[in-house]
Amino acid sequence: MKVLVVGGGGREHALVWKIVQSPRVSKVFCAPGNAGIAQQAALVSINANDLKGLLDFALKERIDLTVVGPEEPLTRGIVDLFESRGLAIFGANQKAAELEGSKAFAKRVMKTYHIPTASFEVFEDRKQAIEYVREQGTPLVVKADGLAAGKGVILCKTVDDAIEAIDQMMVKKIFGEAGHRVVIEEYLVGEEASYIALTDGKAILPLASSQDHKPVYDGDEGPNTGGMGAYSPAPVVTGEVNQRIVEKILRPVIQGMAEEGRPYKGVIYAGLMIHNGQPKVLEFNVRFGDPETQPVLMRMKGDIVPFLLACIEGTLSQCRIEWDDRASVCVVMASKGYPGNYEKGKIIKGLDEVSRLEDIFVFHAGTALMDGQTVTSGGRVLGVTGLGENIPKAIERTYQAVQKISWEGVHYRKDIGKKALCWL
Ligand code: AMP
Ligand code: GLY
Repeated sequence: MKVLVVGGGGREHALVWKIVQSPRVSKVFCAPGNAGIAQQAALVSINANDLKGLLDFALKERIDLTVVGPEEPLTRGIVDLFESRGLAIFGANQKAAELEGSKAFAKRVMKTYHIPTASFEVFEDRKQAIEYVREQGTPLVVKADGLAAGKGVILCKTVDDAIEAIDQMMVKKIFGEAGHRVVIEEYLVGEEASYIALTDGKAILPLASSQDHKPVYDGDEGPNTGGMGAYSPAPVVTGEVNQRIVEKILRPVIQGMAEEGRPYKGVIYAGLMIHNGQPKVLEFNVRFGDPETQPVLMRMKGDIVPFLLACIEGTLSQCRIEWDDRASVCVVMASKGYPGNYEKGKIIKGLDEVSRLEDIFVFHAGTALMDGQTVTSGGRVLGVTGLGENIPKAIERTYQAVQKISWEGVHYRKDIGKKALCWL
C-alpha cells in the first residue's frame, strides 16, 4: 500500500513513524512534513490546506490510503473531495468536522444529546453577551466560535476581563471571523484529560488515555500553547471514568451526529474536565491530539493501518488494540518566544546521541533541513518521547534525553507528568 499523511507537525511524525512499521505499507509520503519525517517518508511540498494539490498528487501517485492530521483540511472538506474521486481517506467529513469547526454547534449537539458539559449561551451580539456576563458573574470562560489555532479560549476571573475578552473577539476581531460569534460558559474545576477514540460511525475503539499540558510554564502558569507535553496513561481516567466517557460522551455524540445527518467517521477527541470522577466535555476535536498522539502511539502495539482502514470500511467492531503496559511521556521543546513570536533557523544539537537511546524517540514538529543541518523552523520544535516501566521512570528517562538536546533559546517545561504522581 501507498500511504499519504497530510500535515507536518509532531502528531504527523508519530503517525508516519507508526504507519511505516506496517507490513502492509510499501511507501509513505507526507505533505508537507518536516526534517524528522523526511527520515521515514518521502516529503511532498504541498501545503496541508491545498486540497486540490493534494488530490492531484494522490490521484497521480495512486495513493491507497490518505491520513489527515490537522483540523483545517478536515473542516475545509478534504475527506468529501477525496471520497468523491473514489480515494480512501481517514478522517471526518466536512459536516462531521463542524464538531470542532464551530464551538456553538458542538455545544448545541451536547445539549440536544444530554452530553455532560459546562452550561453556556451563544452570542452574536456584543451588548447581549455583556449583559449575560453581568447577570452570571465570574469566573467564566469566553470562547471564539470558530477555529483559532487553540488560542480562542479566554478564562475570565472578573466581569471586566470578560468584557475585554468579548471586545477582543467581537470588536477587535483578534481571531478574525472565528470570533464573530462567541460561546460564554461556566468555569469548570477539576483535572483535565484527553480521550481519543477511533470510530466507523457505529463502533467506538478508544485509544489509551492521556493528559496534555497547555500552559507554557511549569505549574500551569503563563499563556496557553498548542501543548507543551503529554503522558499516557492518565491515572485520572480510572476504569469507572473510562466507562462513563464511552457511555455518556462518546456513544451519544457519535449516535447524535448520525441523527443530525452528519455520520461521523475517523477520530474523535474529547478534551475533558474530570471532577469527583465525573467527566465533562471542554471541547471536541475531530483529529488526533498534538502532542498526545506521540506518547499514545509509542504505547500502541501492532499495526495501526488495519484500524484506520476499518474506520473507513465500517468494520471497527471487530478490532481490538493491544497496549504496552509501560507508561510514556512526551516533553515538547520549543523555540525562544513561543507561544508568541519566536525565533527560527537555530541549529539543533544532540539529536544523533539521543537517536541511539533505547525506548526514546524524538518526534519532530517545527524543524527543517538547512545545509545538511537540522534547524528550528516552528514554535514547537521537538517532542522527545520515552517509555518507562511506570510514569516516574518514563519521566526520568525522557528528561535524560531532553537534556542532551540543545539550541540557542530552547525552552521546555520541567514538570511534564508530575500531576500523575499524586495518583500513584
Ligand atoms: P479548549 O480549547 O476549549 O479545550 O480550551 C483550552 C483550555 O481552556 C482547556 O484545556 C482548559 O484548560 C481551559 N478551559 C476551556 N473551557 C473551560 C471551562 N469551561 N472551564 C475551565 N477551563 C476551561
Ligand atoms: N493538545 C491539544 C490538542 O491537540 O488540541
